[in-house]
Amino acid sequence: MKFTTIAAALAATATFAIAPAALAQGTIKVGVIAAFSGPFADYGKQMEGGIKAWMAQHGDTVAGKKIQIIYKDTTGPAPEVAKRLAQELVVRDKVDFLAGFGLTPEALAVAPIAQQAKKPMIIMNAATSVITTKSDYIARFSMTLPQISAPMADWAVKNKVMNVATVVADYGPGIDAEKAFSDRLVKSGGKIVEAIRVPLRNPEFAPFIQRIKDAKPDAVFVFVPAGEQSIAFMKGYRERGLAAAGIKVIATGDLTDDHVLPAMGDATQGVITTFHYSAAHKSPENDAFLKSFASANPQGGRPNFMAVAAYDGMNAIYQVSNKLKGKIDGDAAMGVLKGMKIQSPRGPITIDPATRDVVQTVYVRKVEMVNGQPYNVEFDQFTNQKDPGK
Ligand code: PHB
Repeated sequence: MKFTTIAAALAATATFAIAPAALAQGTIKVGVIAAFSGPFADYGKQMEGGIKAWMAQHGDTVAGKKIQIIYKDTTGPAPEVAKRLAQELVVRDKVDFLAGFGLTPEALAVAPIAQQAKKPMIIMNAATSVITTKSDYIARFSMTLPQISAPMADWAVKNKVMNVATVVADYGPGIDAEKAFSDRLVKSGGKIVEAIRVPLRNPEFAPFIQRIKDAKPDAVFVFVPAGEQSIAFMKGYRERGLAAAGIKVIATGDLTDDHVLPAMGDATQGVITTFHYSAAHKSPENDAFLKSFASANPQGGRPNFMAVAAYDGMNAIYQVSNKLKGKIDGDAAMGVLKGMKIQSPRGPITIDPATRDVVQTVYVRKVEMVNGQPYNVEFDQFTNQKDPGK
């Protein structure tokens, strides 16, 4: 090779090597992994909506750097796809944060990558208790199922609902919900008369609902992942005449998810749930969030709890980026996240420094019509709830 050719080759390599680094100096990259297609497509869309709502209010530049969001569709539940996407985001895109995660199996699949690459992993939904124990770099801004389900049992006992059948999706969050609810109910003198687990994929609710009817409980406690399954469950509940038989529904708020509630029909009227967010929550922060969500997402419908967790997760990413003056180091970022307090649209939240899990108020709500539309209207609350699952 002639000298000039070598020099040119070296120059080319040098430019090639420097270019991405130089570019990265001006950018903070956030890789968002969630389902944007398939049966859980709404999860990704709600998170994207919440992220847009945050950025519409707070701009796209922090500490002099542009915030770049890279969305990746798992089509899930697909843990192996989530894992591959996380690897690509870390190795090829050189992201500073991993975020998103609607479904527990996808969060669990990515945790080892966050651990190895020392990338802060911001959970915007996935709610099985154990997730935050799987990497030191995880912080959760959503909820845990035990955190939501144990207060539901307290409410049941207080209201003399003592004989309960449970129906849960047969995977991490469902098993967590069943255990937390049942343990608390039984400890207070209640009884579980039937415990049913339904498959995560394409559940057929009719035969299970008949079993509940035959068991004649005071109420049925339900956890199904938010979305189409809630609609299917409530349809079966109505068609099999459980309401007419005097069997109440009590559930985690996933069942009456704000986004699908308007499509669920009359059977939801009066359903009691516990949850961390309702679109009907009254606070200046929620008013501002709802307004920003609507203008940033004209076709978005009503935002739900995943949109709020994404909005708060972005708030956290902006705070970390500011504190670290735009130089994101995994350990330093976790230092900022531990103990972080946010005045969220749902109410005040804290990231527990010991577990990196969210501490928050759990509200008791009832579905009622407000201005001609069904809403989860909050009427009682349990403040400062940690995850009792750990
Ligand atoms: C989860 O997979 O962790 C999950 C999914 C949907 C929910 C709640 C939890 O509504």
